[in-house]
Amino acid sequence: MALNSHSSISFKRSLCLFLFLVVLLNFKMASAQLSTDFYNSTCSKALSTIEAAVIKAVANEQRMGASLLRLHFHDCFVNGCDASILLDDTSSINGEKTSAPNVGSVRGYDVIDTIKSQLESICPGVVSCADILAVAARDSVVALGGPSWKVELGRRDSTNASFTAANTQLPSFILDLDDLITTFSQKGFTEKELVALSGAHTTGEARCVTFRNRIYNETNIDSSLATSLKTNCSSSTADDDNLSSLDATSHVIFDNGYYKNLVKNKGLLHSDQQLFSGGSTDSLVTNYSENANEFYKDFANAMLKMGQLSPLTGTNGQIRTNCSKVN
Ligand code: HEM
Ligand SMILES: *[C@@H]1O[C@H](CO)[C@@H](O)[C@H](O)[C@H]1NC(C)=O
Ligand SMILES: *[C@@H]1O[C@H](CO)[C@@H](O)[C@H](O)[C@H]1NC(C)=O
Ligand SMILES: *[C@@H]1O[C@H](CO)[C@@H](O)[C@H](O)[C@H]1NC(C)=O
Ligand SMILES: *[C@@H]1O[C@H](CO)[C@@H](O)[C@H](O)[C@H]1NC(C)=O
Ligand SMILES: *[C@@H]1O[C@H](CO)[C@@H](O)[C@H](O)[C@H]1NC(C)=O
Ligand SMILES: *[C@@H]1O[C@H](CO)[C@@H](O)[C@H](O)[C@H]1NC(C)=O
Ligand SMILES: *[C@@H]1O[C@H](CO)[C@@H](O)[C@H](O)[C@H]1NC(C)=O
Repeated sequence: MALNSHSSISFKRSLCLFLFLVVLLNFKMASAQLSTDFYNSTCSKALSTIEAAVIKAVANEQRMGASLLRLHFHDCFVNGCDASILLDDTSSINGEKTSAPNVGSVRGYDVIDTIKSQLESICPGVVSCADILAVAARDSVVALGGPSWKVELGRRDSTNASFTAANTQLPSFILDLDDLITTFSQKGFTEKELVALSGAHTTGEARCVTFRNRIYNETNIDSSLATSLKTNCSSSTADDDNLSSLDATSHVIFDNGYYKNLVKNKGLLHSDQQLFSGGSTDSLVTNYSENANEFYKDFANAMLKMGQLSPLTGTNGQIRTNCSKVN
């Protein structure tokens, strides 16, 4: 004569509902998504603080816009957008800053560190370094006259970094079209997205060491461009670090000048010109060279997608208080 059958059924129902909610909650946490309003209630000034700092940094030095954009790319392509690129080497971390694609050319760390200290003073322990990189990349593109998009937020920061992954997962300037396509498809990007994202080379600079072979040895290069580039980039290794603009014609402005150059054999890097060299991506390059709005739309969408590469969310990772080191 213990429980009557009615209360036993309602107990079972409650148990079922409870288990269902537990499963649902786990599912939600496992697939935790980024959202554009992630900091609205916890740090409402986060986005305006980052924007103001980026505008100031770009006004101070225009190239910084390019450098901040590249930082986000080099973060996301190496084990996801987790700010691993920002970690300094320690006895336990063999970091990414000294890897071949990054050392001597990736810059802007100081701007990110400054933004982080400002955010720590207004809302301590809230805004991740990975999100700062994503917002700073967007704000840089806007500051240089390019398209805008709503940045998805809620990434957390890694507690580790990988020198080896940075050396193997970032594309090299010596790659041919096939290998560029493979590198990007391994990260889930189509040929069209490869071409759109490469349009980032409408701004910024590259070192002589990355384009010397192209200007002295390749034949699919405009001869007057090659001649002019050789003045700063002799065959001597003393010139290795001398800089030239990735987009010789409008290197500051974020426009479709990159593609206009490619159709005239005026790509700076071997890998740039590969996108217009008789292969499957030629028509995409031609399209973007004639249609800036099409490029802007595809670039913004591809950046949003890049920003979603394996983010740490929920309780994974941490919110670093100093972007250069783990807490
Ligand atoms: C498609 C494959 C890519 C290759 C092979 C490549 C390679 C390079 C190289 C060699 C440099 C010059 C670095 C140096 O001086 O050592 C450079 C600069 C740059 N890259 Fe890329 N890149 C690629 C894609 C991208 C993507 C997807 C983005 C961003 C969405 C990007 C953004 C930039 C920017 C903005 C600069 C100039 C940075 C500055 O002036 O500080 N690149 N890239
Ligand atoms: C979050 O803040 C942004 C920018 O201030 C605003 O556009 C958006 O509507 C807000 N979202 C919510 C859900 O409050
Ligand atoms: C041109 O190519 C040859 C043969 O691959 C190479 O030895 C030489 O270093 C290259 N020249 C430059 C300036 O890169
Ligand atoms: C290129 O670099 C070399 C070595 O650092 C330097 O002497 C030379 O003046 C540079 N050339 C230009 C045009 O900046
Ligand atoms: C050569 O270097 C100078 C000084 O850095 C720079 O102003 C100029 O634009 C460079 N020329 C080319 C063709 O890259
Ligand atoms: C570029 O591609 C888009 C989308 O496929 C198409 O609508 C547009 O007409 C093309 N533009 C040019 C100039 O080819
Ligand atoms: C790096 O940290 C992340 C999250 O904190 C973890 O998922 C990942 O397995 C770690 N990677 C290595 C190589 O330790
Ligand atoms: C952040 O950490 C780095 C590396 O330990 C250190 O050099 C730097 O001074 C720290 N920055 C701040 C604002 O504490």
